[in-house]
Amino acid sequence: MTISTAATPVILDVDTGVDDALAILFAIKHPAINVLGISCVAGNASLERVVDNTLRILDVADAPLVPVAAGARRPLLEPARSAAHVHGESGLGTLLLPATGRKAESISSIELMRRLIVASPRPVTLVGLAPQTNLALLLRQYPECADNIERIVFMGGSTTVGNATAVAEFNVWHDPEAAAIVLDSGVPTFMYGLDVFNQVSIGEPVALELLRKESNLAQVVGRLLSNRVALGAGRNAEYTGLIGDAGALCALVDPDGVTTEMLPLRVQLSGYGRGQTLVDQRTHPGEDIVHGLASEWEAAEVALDVDVDRYARLFLKTLGLSSALPQPV
Ligand code: BDR
Ligand code: CA
Repeated sequence: MTISTAATPVILDVDTGVDDALAILFAIKHPAINVLGISCVAGNASLERVVDNTLRILDVADAPLVPVAAGARRPLLEPARSAAHVHGESGLGTLLLPATGRKAESISSIELMRRLIVASPRPVTLVGLAPQTNLALLLRQYPECADNIERIVFMGGSTTVGNATAVAEFNVWHDPEAAAIVLDSGVPTFMYGLDVFNQVSIGEPVALELLRKESNLAQVVGRLLSNRVALGAGRNAEYTGLIGDAGALCALVDPDGVTTEMLPLRVQLSGYGRGQTLVDQRTHPGEDIVHGLASEWEAAEVALDVDVDRYARLFLKTLGLSSALPQPV
């Protein structure tokens, strides 16, 4: 694989995770992304599982040696709560990947990120696809790193519905304080929230076609896209084909496929709404502003809409799997 010198230097922070796995495959395969390293955090599965899944999925991608390290095993305040009902006990649903010879670094992922950021000749983009515990620890422990971070692109939060609760999205809900620290860090942030995450899906006929192909990569992607069939109960039992976290990377390499706006954003830290991202989409000042009652909000670039077909195609093309799409007659 050739990485163009113009490729964006990226560090992924993941909780692999069915859709983190899709995102890792995409990041490794896309020529405009140079994955400097991967930082792991507890979230969808335990930290040990996340590290192991990440190393194994790198084999599927036939990735060069990419440093992978383990970070936080629980959020700053809350206990770790797995999402086994979505991602299975292993984190990869029913997918069983062969053991790998790849090894995690012996340093923590916070230290790995610091070293990679300091050493990078170009400012690094951090891509958070998980609870933001590691990112918050990095920015608190080594605030000077912010000077060489271009921006933080994160999958998390929502401008509408939640999934962990009626109003909170899992990654932010899992560690709300961490998300608040990241937003408050002064580093520019881009939020790829649940509303867009939930839209980009690949049709079931395509997943079935992938499963019929001989290549291991095609079969793994087919299994990951079909995951919720095997796992879910109730509404989750239906096929969704979501590319999930991989959509945040599509937004990184193809910003024209997503509609965004700079908006005031904050994380709700108490009450039932704990973990909710509040996004102020008003076009006119409300009573709170008029009467001087508004407290401080951070500003973030927020994804509001996405071109689903464009990103589904981009995802498949990047992985060399476009032939699974229906061919024009
Ligand atoms: C987020 O939580 C996990 O289920 C996914 O990997 C994604 O990062 C969606 O709420
Ligand atoms: Ca994730």
